[in-house]
Amino acid sequence: MKNIENLLSQHQEDWSLDQEFYKDQSIFNLEKKKILFNSWIFTGHESQIPNKGDYFLYKLLEEEIIILRNKENEIKAFFNVCRHRGSRICLNEGGNVKRLTCPYHSWTFNLDGKLLAAKSLRDGIDKATLNLHPCNIEVIAGMLFINLSDDPQSLDNLRRDLKEPFDMFGFTDMKIAAHKNYPIASNWKLAVENYQECYHCAPSHPEYSLSHTLKIEDEPGFDEAQEKMRSNLESCGLKDIEVDKDFSNKDKDQEQYAYSRYALFDGYITGSEDGKPLAPLLGNIKDFNQGCSDFNLGPVSYFLAYCDHVVGYVFTPTSLDKCQCDVYWLVNKDAEEGKDYDMEKLMWLWDVTTYADETIIVNNQKGVDSFKYEPGPYTDKEKSARSFIKWYLNELR
Ligand code: FES
Ligand SMILES: [Fe+2]
Repeated sequence: MKNIENLLSQHQEDWSLDQEFYKDQSIFNLEKKKILFNSWIFTGHESQIPNKGDYFLYKLLEEEIIILRNKENEIKAFFNVCRHRGSRICLNEGGNVKRLTCPYHSWTFNLDGKLLAAKSLRDGIDKATLNLHPCNIEVIAGMLFINLSDDPQSLDNLRRDLKEPFDMFGFTDMKIAAHKNYPIASNWKLAVENYQECYHCAPSHPEYSLSHTLKIEDEPGFDEAQEKMRSNLESCGLKDIEVDKDFSNKDKDQEQYAYSRYALFDGYITGSEDGKPLAPLLGNIKDFNQGCSDFNLGPVSYFLAYCDHVVGYVFTPTSLDKCQCDVYWLVNKDAEEGKDYDMEKLMWLWDVTTYADETIIVNNQKGVDSFKYEPGPYTDKEKSARSFIKWYLNELR
């Protein structure tokens, strides 16, 4: 096994990673500390916990976070670790509670994490030092992001620069219509790399490629389609905005983010099978525009915003060689299933596409496992995957 310093220093820029980065437990431990527990990750929408005392659990590897609404109507997050001898406190995935009582010896905490009761606690021990460990949580346009670090990067620039795009689509007034977890038998980076490039779209995603012009980025016809999409942006109630602050363009000590919009092919106004609307228009949008918007929020959370719905993807590891893609479908909070949208039609495109991605990512991992695997050159059609890898290596350094 080569050591990590050597691997980092010998990496050839714009070539894929050495096998060890996908297989070595000590590199994975370093990634956990430097990247995964140091990034803002999308965990859900505030509309999931509308009432005081509502909570749900978010899991990342061995960590479990209780995300709740307290008595003052604020969203709070705590590590699901009792301050007595460490038991899990909440055992159900979600629910409504008045306070948090540990099932082991009944220590009880309030919804601000404060220790209220600990029977037979020895004299001289200050209860105030035994409150639940808080976890960083930020609500951005209704979306809940957590960060496990003790000293998280700032979200100020992201909030400032993406305020307009979030407002346009009305993220605050959305709800999660569906959430599906896709387990993937691969290292998490192969899943992120795959999401970052559309070089594979034409061969792997016939459904997506019929409607989304990203497949022909840098090819004839793309610029004209962009031009056409932009021509009625304003009359549809959208603005022509582009923000590029992710990976290599990231601001120091700020979480990374990006926003851009690309056209759909003629005959499609949203990501549906027949090109027709799927749900009521979102936010301030007045009419359908023939395009979709990419949001990158931190290194593992991505959103694709159509005029009538948003699809969110979060890629996180479940172990060194396994990961998951959590896909969320968001619609306007007032939209009713069966009347305003059909769940099967809404989920169709990104359900088939995510299963297809799972297959190619797992095949990729199998080849990477071979003793004959060696790094290969990224093409010009994999610019974002290249810049993800470059950023990743710099973080480890
Ligand atoms: S471990 Fe929670 S009360 Fe004992
Ligand atoms: Fe894909």
